[in-house]
Amino acid sequence: MTVPRRVPCKGIQRQPGGIRYVSTGLDKMTIEQLIENTEKDFMSRNLATPRLDAEVLLASFLKKDRTWLYTHPGQDVSAREMDGFSFWVARRQKGEPVAYIIGRKEFWSLDFAVDPRVLIPRPDTEVLVEEVIKVLGSGRASRPEILDLGTGSGAIAVALAHECPHARITATDISRKALAVSAGNAERHGVASRITFLEGNLLDPVMGKFDVIVSNPPYIDSGDYARLSAEVRNFEPREALLAGEQGMDFYSAIIPQAACRLKPGGWLLLEIGDSQKENLNRLFQQSDAYQDLAFRKDYAGRWRVVKAKIREEESG
Ligand SMILES: C[S@@+](CC[C@H](N)C(=O)[O-])C[C@H]1O[C@@H](n2cnc3c(N)ncnc32)[C@H](O)[C@@H]1O
Repeated sequence: MTVPRRVPCKGIQRQPGGIRYVSTGLDKMTIEQLIENTEKDFMSRNLATPRLDAEVLLASFLKKDRTWLYTHPGQDVSAREMDGFSFWVARRQKGEPVAYIIGRKEFWSLDFAVDPRVLIPRPDTEVLVEEVIKVLGSGRASRPEILDLGTGSGAIAVALAHECPHARITATDISRKALAVSAGNAERHGVASRITFLEGNLLDPVMGKFDVIVSNPPYIDSGDYARLSAEVRNFEPREALLAGEQGMDFYSAIIPQAACRLKPGGWLLLEIGDSQKENLNRLFQQSDAYQDLAFRKDYAGRWRVVKAKIREEESG
């Protein structure tokens, strides 16, 4: 593949807010030039992944995929398109996450609609989905009842509904706005008829018992929250992340409550932060309602999941 020549880009003017692509009617740039200019600008603002951001934004703006960008580096982008794209660039310059700008995030190889009403699903959470599928084992083929607490975008609930075609899923969230997004994602993936969305505090709105209770609850302590990147703090919902001074508030509530809502042989699975393993271990030992406690790391080598099975005498 030939590398396109770098030519001075007459179409760009620097303005106080950042790059502004000017539509003069004469100006145009190639795909490659526009990516390089945007990447340089993002780099100068210390954004962590400038090239990737530039490519993902441009591909989405042009309603193409990134492969198309690589195979059409010399294609012109019109002044009108550059003008529209400049508004997306300006949002990224202010630190807004790419997923909110393009309105999408891939999770479990599925495309989820996301906006500031919900936390952007993280790839780390996929190991939680993997562990749920493991504990369901051959039960996947039957009709497992699964509860997802704090469903947010619906990433976990929709991924599980997609993976387990006979599962019935209940998904809760305290945020009505988040539930509007998750319900939309269930529709989008054709699993809405198998997921019941309920608004309320943790297990409060839920009836009945479940084979699996899964949750990626808020688990950031107040100190760590202050140290999160501005990109997260300024744009993602605080109530999706913060969990009191020690980051343990939700685990302390979920572990005992879930014990009363698991069927015999049922499992509780929770996403955790890397430094929370010992605290979680202590909480489960204190509860005495569970057995077969196990922890799992994510693919970056950080502790990410805890799972435990209900004791027979607890669930009877
Ligand atoms: C870390 S986010 C997880 C979102 C999604 N499950 C995921 O993995 O991407 C936590 C979610 O819990 C919800 N939440 C916070 N407090 C809650 C509560 N008391 N009861 C139910 N949901 C709650 C938040 O609104 C948010 O959607």
